[in-house]
Amino acid sequence: MPANDEQNTKPVILTCAQPTGKLTLGNYLGAVRNWSEMLEQNDCYFGIVDLHAITTPSHPATLRQNVYDCVAQYIACGLDPKKCHQFVQSHVIGHTELAWILTCITPIGELQRMTQFKDKVAKLGFKSTESTDEDLKFTHDGARPQASINAGLLCYPVLMAADILLYNADLVPVGEDQRQHLELCRDLAQRFNHQYSETFSIPKGFVPKTGAKIMSLADPRRKMSKSDKNERATLYILDEPNQIKKKISAAVTDSGSEIKAGPDKHGIANLLSIHSSLSGQSTDELEEYFQGKGYGVLKSELTELISENLHPVRDKYKELIKEKAYLKNVLAQGASTAQKRANKILSKVYRKVGFPDRERIT
Ligand code: TYM
Repeated sequence: MPANDEQNTKPVILTCAQPTGKLTLGNYLGAVRNWSEMLEQNDCYFGIVDLHAITTPSHPATLRQNVYDCVAQYIACGLDPKKCHQFVQSHVIGHTELAWILTCITPIGELQRMTQFKDKVAKLGFKSTESTDEDLKFTHDGARPQASINAGLLCYPVLMAADILLYNADLVPVGEDQRQHLELCRDLAQRFNHQYSETFSIPKGFVPKTGAKIMSLADPRRKMSKSDKNERATLYILDEPNQIKKKISAAVTDSGSEIKAGPDKHGIANLLSIHSSLSGQSTDELEEYFQGKGYGVLKSELTELISENLHPVRDKYKELIKEKAYLKNVLAQGASTAQKRANKILSKVYRKVGFPDRERIT
């Protein structure tokens, strides 16, 4: 872990991922891979947000396993625990406490207008925020059926804002899909500062130039997502070479045969953007290189490139996932450092809001 005085001079980075399944190529290119390049220059906090994960139905044993899977994947992707703090959101007291305070300065309308909220509601088959009268019961296998739109889904962005502001983060590296949530976080920080006096720094977002929005391989108009039911839509960073080959070969391309990323060429644009993120070549350079070659050549070169890049990540993950005691220790150390920072900010916030000091019983 970085020394304390060193921490104070470096910019603070905070970002998180949900433990809702294996990390996708989108999570890797849009997020985790870039985080690993920030370790030296910054004081980095990487959260595994289990409180967010229960906004959609989840099986308790699966969720617990997903948390260990996630930290093993974080480390395998290059997040060296000696150079950053990795923690589980529910291990640090303060996330939900600050979220509640922020909820009280958030207009409901702003949350209802959030694109991700509207998308999730639509995906669940509801027209608006209507709900059924059914209880949110657990099924026999422990997973919760989605009978109605729970308030957690609506308040999700406020919890995310609390995750960031609890550490007074300077920079938040995320993929394109989190931009709107980050804007809300900045608004809430400003609103709080205005209402109660200067408290939070206003965090900046960092969205990478390439790979910020990797699209589904089956429907390149939609974001690649962990929860896609279509097996061919999502490439996971732990996929074996034969799975990578199958999924890339089956990736939807566009009519015509030219390898060009035009506005009506979503499939090819997506494949080129994956290539560009991994090879470092620009789209223009790739278009020139693939000129006159067919989709088959692009797909087979891309398969090679992805396999080469993910091979060490998969190997490292396989070693790490057997080391549960080590993973638990990484998370315990991370939570301990995170808690110290969170305590300072939370007590400042409590004072500003007007909560009385907690007297200690001696
Ligand atoms: P999550 O778990 O969906 O994704 C983790 C990170 O991966 C990025 N990402 C993508 N990037 C490119 N292409 C894609 N197809 C793709 N899919 C996901 C996301 O932008 C994200 O950076 N709400 C957040 C988790 C969160 C958080 C936070 C993030 C909770 N609190 C505080 C930053 C700061 C989420 O669901 O990420």
